[in-house]
Amino acid sequence: MLHSALRAGLFAGVVFCASVSMAAELAVVSGDTGNGLAFLQSQLKDFEAKTGNTVKIVPMPPSTSDQFGQYRLWLAAGNADIDVYMTDVIWAPQLSDQFLDLTAAAKDVVKDHFPSIIESQTANGKLVAIPGFTDAPALFYRKDLLDKYGKPVPKTWDEMAATAKEIQDKERAAGSKDLWGLVFQGNAYEGLTCNALEWVKSFGGGQIVEANGDISINNEKAAKALDTVKGWVGTISPPGVLAYQEEEARGVWQTGNAVFMRNWPYAYALSNGADSAVKGKFGVAPLPAASASDKPAATLGGWNFAASKYSRHPEEAIKLALFLGSKEVQKNRAINQTNLPTIVSLYDDPDVAKAAPIIPQWKEVFINAVPRPSAPTKIKYNEVSSLFWSAVHDTLSGNGTAADNLEILEAKLTELKGSGW
Ligand code: GLC
Repeated sequence: MLHSALRAGLFAGVVFCASVSMAAELAVVSGDTGNGLAFLQSQLKDFEAKTGNTVKIVPMPPSTSDQFGQYRLWLAAGNADIDVYMTDVIWAPQLSDQFLDLTAAAKDVVKDHFPSIIESQTANGKLVAIPGFTDAPALFYRKDLLDKYGKPVPKTWDEMAATAKEIQDKERAAGSKDLWGLVFQGNAYEGLTCNALEWVKSFGGGQIVEANGDISINNEKAAKALDTVKGWVGTISPPGVLAYQEEEARGVWQTGNAVFMRNWPYAYALSNGADSAVKGKFGVAPLPAASASDKPAATLGGWNFAASKYSRHPEEAIKLALFLGSKEVQKNRAINQTNLPTIVSLYDDPDVAKAAPIIPQWKEVFINAVPRPSAPTKIKYNEVSSLFWSAVHDTLSGNGTAADNLEILEAKLTELKGSGW
């Protein structure tokens, strides 16, 4: 007995040692909004159990611009401490040289994803990252307040602003002193580029830089869009909105202090959480357009997983990236986080439809979403975007007129283009 127990122990020890020496300690870096990092942690347990690897999360601030700045430095320095990066949809052309090619490893699953999303993550013929979820914003509205004042869900920006003002004024007079009409992302960062592209595009003012590389932003319609939004700051939107990112907007909304909010679908699940003051009181609709005959515009967002070229465990890093973009994880994401899947079949999945009806409803919105000009401007996209959001932020802050700021922006973009993109 003793002998065999010893033998078994010894054998277990050998197996244990062998698996320890093969198992990798991986690190995935991610910033996220809401409880995104807690969700990521919950999914890693499955990966660890299946592979014997351990994975630690390196948490980052939620701003995609802050993440990009840090990642660019780490990658340039060949940082071997990070194996997998959660990457924004706009980064693929800029960071492609630093990530491993996932083409071979993903060959059996790429067909399950929307081809346009796979294309967005492909640079120079290389699959730079595997999609984790896609994103397209919504107009969140307080159904209870619209019903109380007999207002329809607004279809135009002017209608939205008029409804916001009326409800804000009447509710404040009745004692809801902290109520605002609209919250959005007005801070000087990538999120403002997303918001402002929606305003400009929906006013017929183009897409900043067009798909063929033409710089189109200096036009009257774009200026009119920005002037319109400037009129909201301090009237239907708090002056502090110029410092808001996604989470600040959600904070005001979710404590019941906004009639409307522009935000991404992640805010849907959280707004319906047990601790939310607006649980069960809101709906979502496509963003408004400039007029009833114009089309609204939603900026295409989304997140992916890339394996670092500098990882000490490249094969395991690729496995982890693929796992985080797998159908299993995307389904859990859809159900728990109301993140939009990039896997086509999940839009017809009955469990997803039941738990998160917004997902199938949002398919049309994301399919028609407008891309930021990261493909035409390639490695210069971040500079293009930062010049754009600065011009918009200046305009909304009263620092120069929209027309002047867009003219200056055009000159700066032309100079940037001159040095090649
Ligand atoms: C969302 C989008 C992302 C975008 C960011 C801007 O996270 O998914 O693509 O860049 O918002 O704040």
